[in-house]
Formats: sequence, C-alpha cells, structure tokens
Amino acid sequence: MPAQIAILIGPKGRGSNMRAIAEACASGTVDAQVRTVISPVDGTPAVEWARSYGLKVQIVPKGEGEAAGLMAALEGADVLCLAGFLRLLPAEVLQGMLVLNIHPALLPKFGGKGMYGMHVHEAVIAASERESGCSVHRVTEVYDEGEIVLQMKCPVFPDDTPERLAARVLDLEHRAYPEAIGRIIHG
Ligand code: GRF
Repeated sequence: MPAQIAILIGPKGRGSNMRAIAEACASGTVDAQVRTVISPVDGTPAVEWARSYGLKVQIVPKGEGEAAGLMAALEGADVLCLAGFLRLLPAEVLQGMLVLNIHPALLPKFGGKGMYGMHVHEAVIAASERESGCSVHRVTEVYDEGEIVLQMKCPVFPDDTPERLAARVLDLEHRAYPEAIGRIIHG
C-alpha cells in the first residue's frame, strides 16, 4: 500500500501546497496517497477544491476537543503534512506521528513565531539577503526548529518586492514539498 498522507490546512490558506502534494500523488510522482485533508473550518476555497478533487475532507475545529479530533482524523495516516497551518500542534499528535511543514525561507533564518506569510519575505528583503527559498522540516513543539528535510533556493533581486519574492518562493514550494515527502517515504 502506498504511504498514507494527511494534509492539515489553515483557515485562510490558499491550499496551493495541498494541491501540489495531491497532484504529485495522483500522477505517481510520489508513491503516496492523500488519505485525508483536515481543515479547522469548512467552506474555504481550499476545502472546496479538495472535495472537487475527490479527497476525503474532515473538519476539526479549533478549541476544546481539537487534539482528540485530530487524532481520530489521522487514523491510518503515516505522515502529516502541514500546509498553511500556523499554530503549534497538540503534543499527542507530535508524539504519535511524523509531521512535516513547509516554511517560505531558508531556515534557521527567518523562522519562529510571527514569521509567516509576507512578514517572512519583507524580513528577507530588509536584511538584503541575496538568496531565499523554502525549507521542508520536521515539526516539533517549537516553531520552525525541527530537522530540515530539504531546502530549495532562489535568488533575491535588488529590486524585489515582497510579493514578487513570495511568488518565486511559492513556485519552489510546490516542487519541494512533494520531493521531500518522497525522500521521507523512501528513506
Ligand atoms: C506557504 O507559503 C507555506 O510556506 C506556509 O504557508 C503558506 C501556505 O500556502 N507555511 P498555501 O495555502 O499552501 O498556498
């Protein structure tokens, strides 16, 4: 049986990494199957896309009962991939399974609490970095500190805006996440 992937998306995420992972699994680029997509809220464009693509969607709301709800939703999954989910996970989820995340910068730089979305790209440009990229890493109880599985790099140009840099990095993310999952699965 191919490796079973669960994807946990955020309430405001576009779901583009979820989509890249699902398409890589469907095309056979990655020998894995998306077993479920988990979202804290229903009705987002990402949730609608997942359903239209034929994926099983489970809604696990934030708050009391979230840890138990996540554990139940993750039944049978081998790997949990966070894609736009910004909060720390309950300890029992982290103890029970391999959890991956993708971050839109070259960790350990530009990571940690508050470093998400456009804040990351603004900070990279403000620091006059010559290159940026994305990092797929294992998730621990500390933001952005788990072992790095894979990084991909791109240039930062002197006249870049955060938006242009974000788009360049997002393209890389869509290649990096499926590739990192493949590496994890095949050891
Ligand atoms: C990505 O930039 C990812 O690096 C970060 O959250 C964003 C999610 O984007 N963790 P999307 O919802 O996958 O399009």
